[in-house]
Amino acid sequence: MISRDTIDTIIQTARVEEVIGDFVSLRRRGVNLLGLCPFHNEKTPSFTVSPAKGIYKCFGCGKAGNSVNFIMEHEHFSYPEALKYLARKYNIEIEEKEQTPEQIQELNEKESLYNLSDFARQYFATILNETSEGKSIGLSYFRERGMRDDLVKKFQLGFSPGKWDTFSDHATQHGYKKEYLLKTGLSIEKENRLYDRFHGRVMFPIHTASGRVIGFGGRILGNDKSFAKYVNSPESEIYSKSKTLYGIYFAKNAIISKDSCLLVEGYTDVISMHQAGIENVVASSGTSLTQDQIRMIQRFTPNISILYDGDPAGIKASFRGIDMIVEHGMNVKIVLFPDGEDPDSFARKHHPTEVTSFISDNAVNFILFKTRLLLGETQGDPIKKAALIKEIVNTIGLIPDPISRSLYVRECSAIMTISEQVLQNELNKILRNKLRKSSPELDKAMEEIPPELIPAEPQLEIDPDSPEYQEKEIIRLLLLYGKEIINLKLSKTEDEETPVQVADFVVNDLINDKMDFENEVYKTIFGEYVKGAESDEMPDRDFFLSNSDPGISGVAINLVFTPYELSPNWLKNNIMITTEETRLLMHVTLSLHAFKARKLDKMMTEIRKKLETATTAEEQFALQQSYVKLKNQSVHINRDGLGRIIQR
Ligand code: CTP
Ligand code: MN
Repeated sequence: MISRDTIDTIIQTARVEEVIGDFVSLRRRGVNLLGLCPFHNEKTPSFTVSPAKGIYKCFGCGKAGNSVNFIMEHEHFSYPEALKYLARKYNIEIEEKEQTPEQIQELNEKESLYNLSDFARQYFATILNETSEGKSIGLSYFRERGMRDDLVKKFQLGFSPGKWDTFSDHATQHGYKKEYLLKTGLSIEKENRLYDRFHGRVMFPIHTASGRVIGFGGRILGNDKSFAKYVNSPESEIYSKSKTLYGIYFAKNAIISKDSCLLVEGYTDVISMHQAGIENVVASSGTSLTQDQIRMIQRFTPNISILYDGDPAGIKASFRGIDMIVEHGMNVKIVLFPDGEDPDSFARKHHPTEVTSFISDNAVNFILFKTRLLLGETQGDPIKKAALIKEIVNTIGLIPDPISRSLYVRECSAIMTISEQVLQNELNKILRNKLRKSSPELDKAMEEIPPELIPAEPQLEIDPDSPEYQEKEIIRLLLLYGKEIINLKLSKTEDEETPVQVADFVVNDLINDKMDFENEVYKTIFGEYVKGAESDEMPDRDFFLSNSDPGISGVAINLVFTPYELSPNWLKNNIMITTEETRLLMHVTLSLHAFKARKLDKMMTEIRKKLETATTAEEQFALQQSYVKLKNQSVHINRDGLGRIIQR
């Protein structure tokens, strides 16, 4: 429990305008500050902050409160979490009060489980570092493994005494209830007595991404095969193995700044990699990768490298994991370690620079990985080779993005020395099959088209030299098709289609996502469309073509006269685009999508740069928060962009 005094200090110190200013950009308006409300969508600011009163209120949605409420609401933190966040921001030391049994009872259940886990973490660490049993057995075990003391500290490792009930007794004496000792699994009940689940083991606390302890792994000392090597916390209200990645808390910053995440198997692999200076690493803790774990990584980066030890069982099991990652639209590479080595043992035997270069030299994409593994088995047998190609093309078929699919087809064709067209046909068959399952009507409509006439996927023309390429595309689209009508379902639940002007759709979509133009002329032109949307009258193309500002008319004329056709051959999301209108919608969506994706990419790159130089924990935390927000936005945009097309 945080003491009343500390709470008062926090509330007095945390200036509401500073706390909110980290998340919302505020402008002074008289004695108050004004900004766009972060809790609902709005175009004109109605979110008001009063520094004098220490409160905020949104006159649009009614949300109101002080700085603690804001953090709770905005970050989905509990009350104590919000206080701790603010204490960190203002360097206030938290003074925890001794807890009376009644107070413990008052805390809600989850909070109690968190509390107890943190209590246990501290206890095990103290035993390890400060008692003779801990030092002579636990600490010397870590040292013998070559683990440095600073890593033992950083990962908050501990030792649970060898006697059957030392921890259970200690916790009970400190007022922790039996109910919670059993629910966290720290204790086990036998014949009405509490025993320690982890007695006589070295302890690895497991943290959430925000650093709270939710469970433990306990390892026996030595290699006695008659005991389970690891005992882990059971599933509880706060710990779910399949939703947890060991090490994520310590890896977050590095994953963002390196824009890549290394995935290993075990606790010791994570720690040894850190010891070698490689910090963007998490472990799935010995189970196969889950969807939740992939999503957690995806909040920070689209790039995963799986680090495997070379045993065949593990390799075959990795195939499923690879397919799952690919299905999420992420990029996956695989690093195979020499026979008998795992990242932990390898890192201990080699210099840190060797470890880094081994990983970068040996990371291969899934095509090369599968080919290398399976090609040996085929030994020139054409039937086996065909099966291998199918296996690889199957994985390519899982990739949501058509452009990446084409790139992989090309790569596969080069590696397997097989024509791109053959692979593309094979891929089209797979896509057709998927379509057949997901959308029988559409599939039926395509039946008349013989498979070999289904066009290969379009190669999008991307001009890498022009930073304003996407901005230009949007303006060109507005000028050429702004007044065209497309029929849209405005929400996923509605059946009815509403006719919408392309310009209206584009303007609303970009404003919703708070997207701005960098090029001044494009910005001015877009501004006219925004005005048009507000007054319900979109500007005519002629308004720009014959504009009194030669800068504007010049640009407009150039854009409109560049030859530009809607491709008749889109095959996107496995759906053949047939009608003119659908093609236009497709085009609008893709252009908006590309525009936003590029903007977000740029902003995220800037944050990554800042993270590398950020020194204080508050700074890093704030950067992480903004990064995750952008990341979520980009995931959202991807999903919405595709959703819109599928909805039709
Ligand atoms: N694991 C587990 N229970 C076991 C064995 C393994 O939960 N009985 C999980 C642990 O998370 C472990 C991971 O699987 O970290 C990888 O297992 P393994 O490679 O056997 O363990 P290491 O972490 O490499 O441990 P050590 O190097 O000490 O053998
Ligand atoms: Mn190991």
